[in-house]
Amino acid sequence: MSYRQEYQKSLSNPEAFWREQARALTWHRAPKIILEKDQSGIDRWFVDGEMNSCYLALDVHIEQGYGDQIALYYDSPVTGTKQSFTYNQLRDEVAHCAGALISLGVSQGDRVIIYMPMIPQAAIAMLACARIGAIHSVVFGGFSATELAIRIDDAQPKVILTASCGLEIDKVIAYKPMLDQAILLATHKPTHCLVYQRSIAPAELVPDRDIDWQGALKNATPADCVAVKATDPLYILYTSGTTGKPKGVVRDNGGHAVAMHYSMRAVYNMQRGDVFWAASDVGWVVGHSYIVYAPLIAGVTTVLYEGKPVRTPDAGAFWRVIEEYQVRAIFAAPTAFRAIKKADPESTLLNPYNISSLKTVFMAGERLDPPTYHWIKNLLGLPVIDHWWQTETGWAICANLMGIEVMPVKAGSATLPVPGFDVQILDVSGQQVGAQEQGSVAIKLPLPPGCLSTIWGDVERFKQSYLSVFPGYYVSGDGGYKDEDGYVYVMGRTDDVINVAGHRLSTGEMEEIIAAHNAVAECAVVGIECDLKGQQPVGLVILKDGQTISSIQLEAELVATVREKIGAVACLKTVKVVRQLPKTRSGKILRKLIRQIADGENYLLPSTIDDPASVKYIIEAFQR
Ligand code: COA
Ligand code: AMP
Repeated sequence: MSYRQEYQKSLSNPEAFWREQARALTWHRAPKIILEKDQSGIDRWFVDGEMNSCYLALDVHIEQGYGDQIALYYDSPVTGTKQSFTYNQLRDEVAHCAGALISLGVSQGDRVIIYMPMIPQAAIAMLACARIGAIHSVVFGGFSATELAIRIDDAQPKVILTASCGLEIDKVIAYKPMLDQAILLATHKPTHCLVYQRSIAPAELVPDRDIDWQGALKNATPADCVAVKATDPLYILYTSGTTGKPKGVVRDNGGHAVAMHYSMRAVYNMQRGDVFWAASDVGWVVGHSYIVYAPLIAGVTTVLYEGKPVRTPDAGAFWRVIEEYQVRAIFAAPTAFRAIKKADPESTLLNPYNISSLKTVFMAGERLDPPTYHWIKNLLGLPVIDHWWQTETGWAICANLMGIEVMPVKAGSATLPVPGFDVQILDVSGQQVGAQEQGSVAIKLPLPPGCLSTIWGDVERFKQSYLSVFPGYYVSGDGGYKDEDGYVYVMGRTDDVINVAGHRLSTGEMEEIIAAHNAVAECAVVGIECDLKGQQPVGLVILKDGQTISSIQLEAELVATVREKIGAVACLKTVKVVRQLPKTRSGKILRKLIRQIADGENYLLPSTIDDPASVKYIIEAFQR
């Protein structure tokens, strides 16, 4: 079937299309009702279906005779460890971990926070929760104790799973003290913490509360999969919104499994036994979907890599992993390839490796800028596929569907809407705009299976943030346009969210932290262009009258506070003191104008600007 036929089929009769996709999975109870609105008016998929996501990821393959196939390769250049797990071995580990969770009092519907580095135990923990119907919430290791505490209070986990430490380039990050601090800060207290001790930096355990992972799993009775409703939550994943309160994106079990399975074939063209490598982190949605669930549900071997594209030990790391595990498709953020290009511009570190197993390079997390696209395309001579998606959708909204029909690539475009996603470009009044015209990228409802079903504990926030801007549509928060062939170009956020090294961060949250400083009267944080990380945050502050703090001292204090409150991943390194911020007459800070000035772009002074003279302070600040 051609792309156009497949796409039309998915939109003209979504229920028939997704019923057919759902048949490819083994259900405890096959769904008869494919799409129905819930009490809040939200579209829900496969509402009377029952299944188990862990069963689909592991047990079903064993029952079908693939128990000895490799499910997961773990490669850790930072510790010098390599390990492989067959489906049998991974199922056994997961069943023991699930048994340990049960012995700690976790039952169906309970939340479990997972705060772990990129080790197999993180994936094992996720699958163990799914096995017993508990809802996991993985918190990225680069987040601070404060951020972790916010998530603990929101998700109210019964148990938290962690490891004693993680390893970054040249440094050991002790996770356990951060967890202890977070529990101290949080109002909600978990009953237990299960701690995986790594020999490089074992942690001290808090008596009665903390349990040693290795001991607990050894003594645990392996637990079997329980049947859950397709609409039951599988996980909560917090993502940055425009305020300091992150949004707990809720993903259900049934729709997610169907979407994951479909995408592995349709988008990535992966078959059972192929090796797929998503070079991300389990703390991000890419890690949830394409390190853990999708490859395993599709019977594909996944690679879990505890390292970086560069400096662990060098810029040849990606090529080594591809050769060593015969990776067929890699999925990474453009930042990773920009880092490789910067460290090894002549690509000499590719020479020692035979990467002929590699058939496709997939990119997401941020826009694949044309120079990076051309560099990687010329280097490898393979299809390089940009695809656009978000934590909220859980899988690609636009892509070049390698398993359906390969369309010509246009540099700078994420190609065409994926079946199930009716992508439209709307103007401020919600009307569709013509080709080449910029607008809000929106998706006509219903969203396909796999997308968020709500914001944890706050369905009104879900509706208000995503569904009320343009009635009948999901608003993505991204701006962009389509060309005459319907190719979608996603150009960047229309809200206060920025993308730093493929990491989604809220400038609003940084502003809240900066504004709380004694010396600061007012501030703005904008994401400005960065050759390596795509964007980097820069703070602009106005001092309160009478403040004498030096700008160097203030910058150092604000950088340290943002790092402490959000985490190292925030990457705020620059804060500039200015006399005035450009604002509209109604007092709204003109952040886009500031960003355009910082990036050296042409700009038009908005007619609503209060004091055009304010612009000169911004120009001066970025010349300093
Ligand atoms: N746990 C603890 N700290 C972490 C962390 C984690 N899991 N991940 C990152 N950090 C820390 C880093 O050590 C760094 O700390 P520092 O300021 O003390 O040096 C800080 O957070 C910023 O990290 P990062 O933005 O990753 O910068 P980097 O200089 O360490 O690495 C790249 C730069 C380009 C190599 C790296 O960003 C990268 O590999 N990017 C790929 C992006 C990606 O996979 N995105 C996922 C979405 S698909
Ligand atoms: P996250 O939710 O962390 O995955 O971040 C999602 C955001 O990253 C999107 O809303 C976009 O702004 C950006 N993004 C991700 N992939 C792409 C892409 N291929 N092209 C353009 N922007 C992207």
